[in-house]
Amino acid sequence: MKNVILDCDPGHDDAFAIMLAAKHTNLLGVTTVGGNGILENVTRNALSVLEVIGRTDVAVYPGHSGPCTAPLIIADNVHGKSGMDGPKLNPPKRKPETKHGVDFIVETVMHTDHVTLIATGPLTNIASAINKEPKIVERVDALYIMGGGAYAGNWTPAAEFNIYVDPEAAYKVFHSGLTIYMCGVNLTRQCPVTPEFIENIRNIGNPTSIFAAELLDFFAAGGDAHLHDACAVAWLVDPTLVRSAYLNVDIELNGKLTRGMTVTDLRPLQTAKPEADIDLDSPYRWDDAPQGSPFRGHEPNCHVGMRLDYGKFTQLLLDTLTSY
Ligand code: BDR
Ligand code: CA
Repeated sequence: MKNVILDCDPGHDDAFAIMLAAKHTNLLGVTTVGGNGILENVTRNALSVLEVIGRTDVAVYPGHSGPCTAPLIIADNVHGKSGMDGPKLNPPKRKPETKHGVDFIVETVMHTDHVTLIATGPLTNIASAINKEPKIVERVDALYIMGGGAYAGNWTPAAEFNIYVDPEAAYKVFHSGLTIYMCGVNLTRQCPVTPEFIENIRNIGNPTSIFAAELLDFFAAGGDAHLHDACAVAWLVDPTLVRSAYLNVDIELNGKLTRGMTVTDLRPLQTAKPEADIDLDSPYRWDDAPQGSPFRGHEPNCHVGMRLDYGKFTQLLLDTLTSY
């Protein structure tokens, strides 16, 4: 199993990311970041999820309470006042660690070989860890991100929530040289939370699945719910779940309408096929056009998730919840 640190802001879909990571990876620790809710809330929620699933051996390290360059924006309109409304939970028995999440990331990566990072909240902690110890870039195997989108956003027409909250951090991360897998909303919109899926989860009947179904009852009540963060972990656990393209992704910092957009250079995938303007089997490469040509693509820096196998994804989640 892969060594993993999960950086998150639970968050209903983050809870599913924790459940998958705790079962299918060697989860070295969970770090939290202000995002869906304030840091205090998302940290408490992370502790609660780990308690429900019986993994109180996994420590939780609070990181940054918000972006270093701007005020925090939270998503209480999606995740409720607590950041994870729905199930009735007692306060967690454990306390979070006193070590800062960024220090935990840096120290763990510098002392442990083959660590994979998964980030399912704003990228504040990851950028801060790179700033603190740039050598982590060479040491980390890969970074899986739930954030961004190849075509469009969700929080604004152009930007997805996690990137929109801290675009400066995202810029640092996407320009860092890390091996990045981007699980953006173009991918995660392919994993809707349906009433049938919620009932299948509830019918498993163990405490974790009942908790999971109650999370989804709340999450789906607002309509248009997707298990965004679980996708990022699922991709690491089973690479055959996702078809990706290796492309250049850059972060818009200044656009009046586009701040926080993950500008994805899709030109190598654009063909003359009438039925679709994106072709994952496109024979073109980013550097086919000569140097200096306006049609030459930008050098890839990111594996962009494009197609999700929804059947396999939901089965992985059901199997995982059954195993708790
Ligand atoms: C992302 O934003 C949050 O609300 C979710 O937890 C997910 O990480 C989706 O845009
Ligand atoms: Ca999240």
